[in-house]
Amino acid sequence: MKKFKRYLVTSALPYANGPVHIGHLAGVYIPSDIYTRYLRLRGEDVISVCGSDEHGVPITIKARQEGVTPQDIVDKYHNIIKKAFEGLGMSFDIYSRTSSPVHHRTASDFFRTLYDKGVFTEQTTMQYYDEEAGQFLADRYIMGTCPHCQNDRAYGDQCEKCGSSLAATDLINPRSTITGSVPVMRETRHWYLPLDRYEEFLRKWILEGHKEWKVNVYGQCKSWLDLGLQPRAVSRDLDWGIPVPVEGAEGKVLYVWFDAPIGYISATKELTPDWEKYWKSEDTKMVHFIGKDNIVFHCIVFPSMLKAHGGYILPENVPANEFLNLEGDKISTSRNWAVWLHEYLEEFPGKQDVLRYVLCANAPETKDNDFTWKDFQARNNNELVAVLGNFVNRALVLTDKYFGGAVPAAGALTDYDRDTLGELPALKKSLEENIENYRFREALKDAMGIARLGNKYLADTEPWKVVKSDPERVATILNVALQITANLAIAVEPFMPFTAAKILDMLAVEKLGWEKLGTADILPAGHRIGKAELLFEKIEDSVIERQLQKLADTKRANQEREASKKVTEQKESVSFDDFQRMDIRVSTILAAEKVAKTKKLLKLTVDTGIDRREIVSGIAEYYTPEELVGRQVLVLVNLEPRELKGILSRGMILMGEDALGKLVLLSPSAAVNSGATVG
Ligand code: MF3
Ligand code: ZN
Repeated sequence: MKKFKRYLVTSALPYANGPVHIGHLAGVYIPSDIYTRYLRLRGEDVISVCGSDEHGVPITIKARQEGVTPQDIVDKYHNIIKKAFEGLGMSFDIYSRTSSPVHHRTASDFFRTLYDKGVFTEQTTMQYYDEEAGQFLADRYIMGTCPHCQNDRAYGDQCEKCGSSLAATDLINPRSTITGSVPVMRETRHWYLPLDRYEEFLRKWILEGHKEWKVNVYGQCKSWLDLGLQPRAVSRDLDWGIPVPVEGAEGKVLYVWFDAPIGYISATKELTPDWEKYWKSEDTKMVHFIGKDNIVFHCIVFPSMLKAHGGYILPENVPANEFLNLEGDKISTSRNWAVWLHEYLEEFPGKQDVLRYVLCANAPETKDNDFTWKDFQARNNNELVAVLGNFVNRALVLTDKYFGGAVPAAGALTDYDRDTLGELPALKKSLEENIENYRFREALKDAMGIARLGNKYLADTEPWKVVKSDPERVATILNVALQITANLAIAVEPFMPFTAAKILDMLAVEKLGWEKLGTADILPAGHRIGKAELLFEKIEDSVIERQLQKLADTKRANQEREASKKVTEQKESVSFDDFQRMDIRVSTILAAEKVAKTKKLLKLTVDTGIDRREIVSGIAEYYTPEELVGRQVLVLVNLEPRELKGILSRGMILMGEDALGKLVLLSPSAAVNSGATVG
């Protein structure tokens, strides 16, 4: 294996159109932070860069939905994300954003270089255009039925149901997501990156040169390459993004997937004037941490861009993870089906490492995985509390009790002591190999293996019993236990930095380097340790139930929203004469009151223009009497009178009713005289 002088770790730039959730964390950020922290502990020259991805159609759509500017949206979410990452202890060397001036310049120059080199092809094509909105419909601005799975909410770039990547023209029954109207075709001109010309280079580089990549990553690359690559448009007709820096490109911006990965370069530039050594030296090992939906962009598109530009290194590895589900369902921002990091940090203060632990232990490294609150609780209570916390606490408390908080000198070691300590180097080696090969779940097991080792050691040697007969032996036992504790402080740091810091604090030692891991003389005899505190606390059922209730509420709200969209079938035809027989009048509500002993009924006095009359109507759940008085509504006046709760109801107020039975009054769009006919 090549030995590298330095490392550049990148983590997918999260879209600033929503907060970060546990799926992002388990897929990308927890692994990248473990990897980076590990390299730092080893004393390597490593930088970790990330930032918000602030361009692209989803951000403009979100802005439109909320009636604010795209800049408002990205400012809001950039701050939420940045703060939440800090709260979780993500140790990026820089967390930047793609709206930064340095990035605009860098991405613009990058495009210009490729343009000047004649890398791009230009094509005029017909694209969907929304005449009502006066704009081209890029990517998610267009929706329709997926030709593969018939999902009628597929986007112009992708079907989220079956995962196929689509072109807008593949959609059946396309419609604009801005106005809902049926789009027309219009001519537009764009720049394309001719990926087909990089196929050979990619085959050699990935399929022959990087057989060590994770199976899921290698496999996806292979199938893309086997299908044959097509030129990809790198510009869009949009007013949000980085303007295409050539003449005659008014109203066009760089495609978000062209500019975003360049964000890794811009962030490095912002971090250090020495940025080129990270990007342009073969001594640098660059690793991209991403989720599986980003594979093609990081393994095919971005490397082709870097190659076309020249002078840049390529990633050594792209350890993409699969997806994390939540309680058996796909995580979804739009359906609010997620555990949001910023909410978790508020609801579980001081428990950052619990989340980091659970998400790593359960990371979707080779297949999709499920996060459940019960598993979260079980791992906290049975692993963090019962194994790690328990061991460290016992070692420290017993030292305090028997030796006044001073590390006792070890006497002669028994075979069992030696065997126990002898396992540390093996665990260390395994941990290293696992991290270096992106097997973080296994690596975490190795780190926890040290706690298990310590726990077993104390259970087997029983210092609390031996102390009565052989206090010298207890000195040795606790010396060994404390050395194991110090080992733990090092081994868990990449995974649980808060816990590592707490252990160091309790041991009253400064940071320990990786080289100390596996050794048994970290704490000298006589060294005074600090006060023992609990590392973890049990999570009660009620806490978990509250979270499950929150999710149940979300599910119900989603189901209701879905159900209310259902449309009943059209009824049989009626003749015009039949219709004409109904006498519908605009009427004004003069008075309204609840009908005693009913929940749903209101007695309304209305002026129909013909007369004043009383009508009993079942709308009490949706309108208060006060808000009805003075309103104009539509009344079927020649409906046969009917007695309801002792009131003679003469006519019917017309209402809209959704699939769930929710009622809304229908009113004329401008005031008219009571008695005006409807037809
Ligand atoms: N914003 C993208 C996503 O969330 C990831 C961008 S990664 C980068 O899927 F390479 F483009 F930066
Ligand atoms: Zn589909």
